[in-house]
Amino acid sequence: MMNHTIPHIETRNNKQVLIVEDKPFILLAGEVHNSDSSSPKYMEEIWDIAGQLGMNTLLLPATWEMIEPEEGCFNFEVPTELINQARERGMRIVFLWFGSWKNAECMYAPGWVKQDLKRLPRAQIEKGKNKAGRAISPSLPVKIPYTTLSYLGEETVKADAKAFAAFMSFLKTYDEEQQTVIVVQVENETGLLGASREVSDAADAAFEAAVPEAFASYMRSHTETMTEEIREAVLAGKEQGSWKEVFGDCADEIFSAYYVSKFVNTVAEAGKKVYPLPMAANCWLDKGDKPGTYPTGGPISKVHEVWDFCAPNIDVYCPDIYVPQFKEVCDEYTRRGNALFIPESATHGYAAPRLCYTVGHYHAMCYSPFGFDDIGKPFTAVQAFLFGMDVTDPALKTPQNFEEYAAYGQILKEMMPMLAEAYGTDCLQAVSAETDSPAPAADGNPFGALPATMNFGSFSVSVTFKSPVNPRSDGACLCLKVSDNECWVVGNACGISLNSANPDVPNLDFLEVTEGCFEKGRWIPGRRLNGDEVAQMSMSSPSVWHIRFFTYE
Ligand code: DGJ
Repeated sequence: MMNHTIPHIETRNNKQVLIVEDKPFILLAGEVHNSDSSSPKYMEEIWDIAGQLGMNTLLLPATWEMIEPEEGCFNFEVPTELINQARERGMRIVFLWFGSWKNAECMYAPGWVKQDLKRLPRAQIEKGKNKAGRAISPSLPVKIPYTTLSYLGEETVKADAKAFAAFMSFLKTYDEEQQTVIVVQVENETGLLGASREVSDAADAAFEAAVPEAFASYMRSHTETMTEEIREAVLAGKEQGSWKEVFGDCADEIFSAYYVSKFVNTVAEAGKKVYPLPMAANCWLDKGDKPGTYPTGGPISKVHEVWDFCAPNIDVYCPDIYVPQFKEVCDEYTRRGNALFIPESATHGYAAPRLCYTVGHYHAMCYSPFGFDDIGKPFTAVQAFLFGMDVTDPALKTPQNFEEYAAYGQILKEMMPMLAEAYGTDCLQAVSAETDSPAPAADGNPFGALPATMNFGSFSVSVTFKSPVNPRSDGACLCLKVSDNECWVVGNACGISLNSANPDVPNLDFLEVTEGCFEKGRWIPGRRLNGDEVAQMSMSSPSVWHIRFFTYE
């Protein structure tokens, strides 16, 4: 008999947190390369690497083509073995349902789906064509052949939902008791490339038809949270009418988002009816480009209100972050109070500091580098292109050091229960060199650069990055307040100082500063730090310190 409620999302301290076995859980995760989880044998080594990196969860594709190779014949051998592997290692899984969409294409749909073009139609980005050229970048004249399933395919969504429901039913039967699988991502990077909306005759007719009244009125009553572009279009448009009349210049994108999110919702709903695990939808970011050059209709932040209306069965929208503007993207995805769930991010030199920062600052539900087994290896040409575009920042040009990720990972994994308990409170904060670059001193003296400060009410922690004594650009520091006189500090490549934040007792002295580590949740103290190590508090490898202090007049 199952003893726990099934994994679910709850709001605690005004923050959405994932609850697993009745306790808040942080996914300190990694996503595997697309093909890895098709072979449990291949996965053996990948699980080991994840263990070394301190991960507690893996994000693993579960593909429609492998699960339903023939219509109506299901095969769950591979996910069964993957679940067994996770259980042997005390780890959890987020399955990624590669169904009708994978990176705005349909490459994981089974052969019987791909071949039945009549029943399961393709999207047309050029009238009458099932496959057509799409530009690969707004600035390049080159086009590549593109095809995907139509978001208007009524039989397609039925078939996908049926397969997904069968998959969720397998998970319920095989895993409800042990709860190895804690979240499911529905589809992967949905949306349409090559055009801002489908242009088949059926799509044109739908676009000319009246916008469903309930949707138009929902959009008009939710302008407060909208991005400026969408808000302006909604306010300038008619209350009722065709998509163009109601949504003006944003009509194509809203139309695509409406149909894509409805499709995803139908799939998610069918699965949730069987086994209601939390469900996520990940996103290929728009990067400020024009619709059609990114998967249009996917859950980019400017169409979240559309997704809210159409996809109530999706619990969280998740940015795949490969761009250098990390903080901007995290802020966009949390601006409406959403939890931060990052299923994919880069493996360059910010991978580890971002782990520390997202947990400490955003109280993230999930942080997960993509292809994490690449950590510590030289970049491939594609990674060098994707990650290293900002040639001025050394951390973007350098692969993440394996030992450093592992050290942060192990510390945070051990501390996870106490960190998760502090989610939604001011007791958990973080700063990083990437996001809180030091303000230069007025006289240009680097020693005088202003630190980043975390204020805990009674005391504050000031952190210096990129200083002459800590010149690295990939520092991060997280602080967990235990009481007015005690805290844990986790950090690397930074200098720290503690100060009183209470003007009545403006002085602060240390009682005890101890470095150490956690083993099986137990604190194992190492060196007692004092003298030079406390006069100049500096962290030069990922470390955890326990600090006790007092304040006085
Ligand atoms: C984003 C996709 O969601 C992943 O499955 C993978 O294809 C990566 N891009 C590759 O960078």
